[in-house]
Amino acid sequence: MILAIETSCDDTCAAVVQPDGRRALSNVVHTQTEHARYGGVVPEVASRAHLERIDGVIEASLTEASVALDDVTQVAVTVRPGLIGALLVGVAAAKGLAYSRELPLVPVNHLKGHVASAYLADPKLEPPFVALIASGGHTALYSVDADGRMNLLGETLDDAAGEALDKGARMLGLGFPGGPEISKSAKEGDPKRYDFPVALKGRDNLDFSFSGLKTSLLYKLKSLGEEGTHENLQHLAASYESAVVEALSRKMLRAADIHESPTLVVVGGVAANGLLRHRIGEECEKLGLRLVVPSPELCTDNAAMIGAAAARSPIIPFPDYLGLNARSV
Ligand code: KG4
Ligand code: ZN
Repeated sequence: MILAIETSCDDTCAAVVQPDGRRALSNVVHTQTEHARYGGVVPEVASRAHLERIDGVIEASLTEASVALDDVTQVAVTVRPGLIGALLVGVAAAKGLAYSRELPLVPVNHLKGHVASAYLADPKLEPPFVALIASGGHTALYSVDADGRMNLLGETLDDAAGEALDKGARMLGLGFPGGPEISKSAKEGDPKRYDFPVALKGRDNLDFSFSGLKTSLLYKLKSLGEEGTHENLQHLAASYESAVVEALSRKMLRAADIHESPTLVVVGGVAANGLLRHRIGEECEKLGLRLVVPSPELCTDNAAMIGAAAARSPIIPFPDYLGLNARSV
């Protein structure tokens, strides 16, 4: 069994995954709620919270999976990219555990982890495919080749999609994280009420940009004033969410078309978004494309995806990983 650890941002995560990386026996996520009062993740608070919880989360992942430490044959951990202090907690825990049991260690890139969540969602999925990663820190399109190598096709020139939702929610006076908050507020709203820009719409490149959308919301709020904003909150949230979703789905379908890929994979925290799932689902059905979108729990940060990626990654044998370090980028 693979014991996987993920602490790159504000979720303390551990999971037990089958050696083939196709099934998680447990997937424990402790979401740090202490950041909500600051309206964003505070790196130092995150590291300390990871340190307090990591042991308990690892234990819970073993108990939930009914797996003893003796059954663990390798330890996997996110080593990059992320908040350096947060990553270090997971890397130190993984190294300590692997060393004490004389086990091999598998360092995993967080983005590869997000892509690998699709292998858990669809046990028959194999590359090649086109993948969209839309999270709080990254928004990029990749063509994943048959060897699992990720080739960048396009990425955001400024904010990530999740970041745009988080910042938009903040401007609207909604809570953190902004993605789910905007969705909640948008439920009863009219997505066509405000015409927010969908950036780089006509361009043939596969890059994204969300800073214009954010500025456009800011000006709209100024012109509506406090009362107008309050009255139209649901419509503002719905129109803003719709613009983000439109940008993501357009570029994604364009990428599938350009690269003649019959299979599309959508992962990362923003892939938990109901409207995005619905929109891309509809389009793929129309076009006869195969779409793999993991369940919302596998889209947001978790360790099961790190275990799934580890099953396809090079292993460092005991005890050669003692010098292994985390990296922020
Ligand atoms: O992948 P993730 O959990 O962490 C990073 O690697 O960044 O993504 C977090 C992002 C946040 O920006 C959050 O607002 C967004 O994903 N998010 C959502 C939803 N759930 C989380 N965005 C839209 N709709 C959701 N349901
Ligand atoms: Zn992530």
